[in-house]
Amino acid sequence: MAILITGGAGYIGSHTVVELLNANKEIVVLDNLSNSSKISLERVEKITGKTVTFYEGDILDRTILQKIFSQHNIESVIHFAGLKAVGESVRKPLHYYQNNITGSITLVEEMLKANVNNLVFSSSATVYGDPEIIPITEDCKVGGTTNPYGTSKFMVERILEDTVNAYPQLSVVILRYFNPVGAHKSGLIGEDPNGIPNNLLPYISQVAVGKLPELSIFGNDYNTPDGTGVRDYIHVVDLAIGHLKALEKHQDDRGYHVYNLGTGIGYSVLDMVKAFEKVNNIKVPYKFVERRAGDIATCYSDPQKAFEKLGWKTEHNLEQMMQDTWNWQKNNPNGYQN
Ligand code: NAD
Ligand code: UD1
Repeated sequence: MAILITGGAGYIGSHTVVELLNANKEIVVLDNLSNSSKISLERVEKITGKTVTFYEGDILDRTILQKIFSQHNIESVIHFAGLKAVGESVRKPLHYYQNNITGSITLVEEMLKANVNNLVFSSSATVYGDPEIIPITEDCKVGGTTNPYGTSKFMVERILEDTVNAYPQLSVVILRYFNPVGAHKSGLIGEDPNGIPNNLLPYISQVAVGKLPELSIFGNDYNTPDGTGVRDYIHVVDLAIGHLKALEKHQDDRGYHVYNLGTGIGYSVLDMVKAFEKVNNIKVPYKFVERRAGDIATCYSDPQKAFEKLGWKTEHNLEQMMQDTWNWQKNNPNGYQN
């Protein structure tokens, strides 16, 4: 029996493939490499000493999905494939809805035809919009998303919930990630953003390595302890293990299940800059600029449900997040293009 990982060459996908291979699972990856490199999977094989079956192709392509489902005995699908750049989604909404929503519908249609009934879906804390309470629990209101990327996640969640109601043989697990950071401790795989990074930690590490002159901190007048935005940063290896736990718990456990994957701890932008500087003994010049449109002041999870039901909790602290991010960045200043 094998697990199909869509988007498995990407940042979170590649780290999850490592953890699944280490747990002796057989893995098939489908990725169109639109935001990743095949080298990540070569590195995964180096880390684990195991092989990955790789298909270069698109989740919108039924032929390749049918081929995979007929040639491999797939029991579960972890669905990472998607576009994730918030700003780009505002400029190209149809592209984002087509890829993220139609892509997910196509995948689930082909799963149903092939009688593959277990799905884990990558969602995001972005579905909570500006959260009604902090820390955020899974039953907080969702919707109120402010960009097509976030709306695509919210809509796919709804589509999957309706689909589970109509096809009770399905088990669907929605994992709402908070802010994934860090890299595998080997320094062989990590986040490799295209162009100038949008997210905080890749930006900090590119300043540290000298590729960018300074960090712009978006706003210092939020209603937070130091005025900068507060988020729930989670080490990508902890996040990856969350997928393994979700599969173990809910394989063939029919129904629709939702979990927050976060640490439950909020750090500010300044906390992050200072921690990076201290742990890695390197200066990160920064300046304060205007708030970024669509940003909220504070967002962190209540991860209790995942702890109680999945037996999952994060093991990596802020120091390890900073160490592993820098280890990846300094050894791969140009990502996988070395
Ligand atoms: P990523 O871009 O590194 O990985 C996504 C992978 O999907 C890439 O390898 C890309 O080539 C592939 N892909 C995209 N569209 C595809 C398609 N139509 N067919 C086949 N492959 C396709 O991103 P990531 O950070 O690893 O994120 C993985 C998932 O988690 C995404 O769905 C993302 O929206 C979600 N997520 C990410 C974050 C984050 O901060 N990184 C936070 C919350 C949710
Ligand atoms: C962003 C996305 C969100 C997505 C998440 C994970 C927006 C509005 N939201 O969330 O939809 O799910 O990434 O991919 O883009 N910051 C700076 N300077 C920078 C970069 C970030 O000060 O150069 C600050 C931000 O204002 C924020 C914090 O750092 O307070 C974290 O930012 P980021 O890493 O982009 O994540 P989110 O804003 O949480």
